[in-house]
Amino acid sequence: MSDLLWQKTGVRVDAQIMKFLAGSDVVLDRELLPYDIRASRAHAEGLGRIGILDADETAALLRELDALAADVESGSFVLDDRYEDGHSAIEARLIERLGDTGRKVHTGRSRNDQVLVASRLWLKDRLDVLQSLCRDIAAVCLRRAETDPALPLPGYTHMQRAMVSSTAMWLAAYAEAFIDNTTRARQALAWIDANPLGTAAGYGVSLPLDRDYTTAALGFSRMQISPIYAQLSRGKFEIAALDALGAAMLDLRRLAWDLSIFTSAEFGFVALPAEYTTGSSLMPNKRNPDVIELMRASYSPVAAARCEVEQLLSLPSGYHRDLQYSKGSLIHGFGHGLAALALLPNLLAKFAWRSEAMLAAIDVGMFATDRAIELAVQGVPFRAAYQQAAEAPLPACGADPQASLAARTSPGGAANLQLDVLKARLAALA
Ligand code: ARG
Repeated sequence: MSDLLWQKTGVRVDAQIMKFLAGSDVVLDRELLPYDIRASRAHAEGLGRIGILDADETAALLRELDALAADVESGSFVLDDRYEDGHSAIEARLIERLGDTGRKVHTGRSRNDQVLVASRLWLKDRLDVLQSLCRDIAAVCLRRAETDPALPLPGYTHMQRAMVSSTAMWLAAYAEAFIDNTTRARQALAWIDANPLGTAAGYGVSLPLDRDYTTAALGFSRMQISPIYAQLSRGKFEIAALDALGAAMLDLRRLAWDLSIFTSAEFGFVALPAEYTTGSSLMPNKRNPDVIELMRASYSPVAAARCEVEQLLSLPSGYHRDLQYSKGSLIHGFGHGLAALALLPNLLAKFAWRSEAMLAAIDVGMFATDRAIELAVQGVPFRAAYQQAAEAPLPACGADPQASLAARTSPGGAANLQLDVLKARLAALA
């Protein structure tokens, strides 16, 4: 391992303890390394601006940080257990290339603000991906709701046949859900968009660091002013981001449930694209909706990540090493969640409805509500109309699903989906 940043003469380092301290940091820090390099760049420029580094030193550091970023990108530099963590790797590389100039890069910063800024930049990018995936999902649902024929689909409550619904209503529901999820991701992104770099170990430093500069250079919309609050926000901001992801995952889980029920032979309402199914190793007859099931399961690592981070935060103010464990939860949770969401737009674009099976599952009882309302409109008090319709559910136009849908004029109902309103909401999030 490279020299430890914090090694002091005469203190023995125990290998087993070192391994425990480092945990899986080097592996996790591979995710954060490009962001850590970017933040190191801004920090070096900031030091140049206040005269801690001269112009040559600043230029040399920027050059070497850019070279390292390129090596990371091309794979010629891989973060591994030669280093304690990503922060040490960056500093070791700068020292190897630049000697004393490299030894200056850490002036006025701590790994405490370094990990905060790198993980915050990483998280901002993830929320951006979340936002655009939610937008894509909503867009596919809206497009199909608008252009596909609106087929009658049985609507269930308690998994019991309830009322006639339509494929367009189903799609419009998930469109609206994912429009809201886009907003949620966007709000979480705006909320965490604060720069912790320059708060050092959590108490500031005796230098007039140009934090306004690093805030702008790193593309943050505001500075996190209090160094103590910067540390308090670690974990708290991660939870906000995982909550935003969790909102989308909740809808994905229910959508996946719908599809897994609809694809069963008993329902037979939906045919999945072949690439979203797998075969059985034993049963030659099987095509299984494994992708849908793993999409449904992906809520679990996201919820677990949130829970893990929350458990870690039972801490007084200031930095504590406990917080290191929030990185793994975050990376694991976002990795699973975004991977599942990324497969959804194409699935939604390609799956097929099977209208015959859907029609066959619509029985006369599903028109009883229409009949009760028809009688109520004629002046029969609703409770009496309800009794009559329970016994004779057939509306005047007969058990015609399309007629039932055409009459569903309440806002959001099948005949009044207000897709234009949803489209405008989505467009406003572009
Ligand atoms: N790996 C550490 C973390 O994620 C980096 C910060 C270490 N700071 C310290 N004071 N030991 O929290």
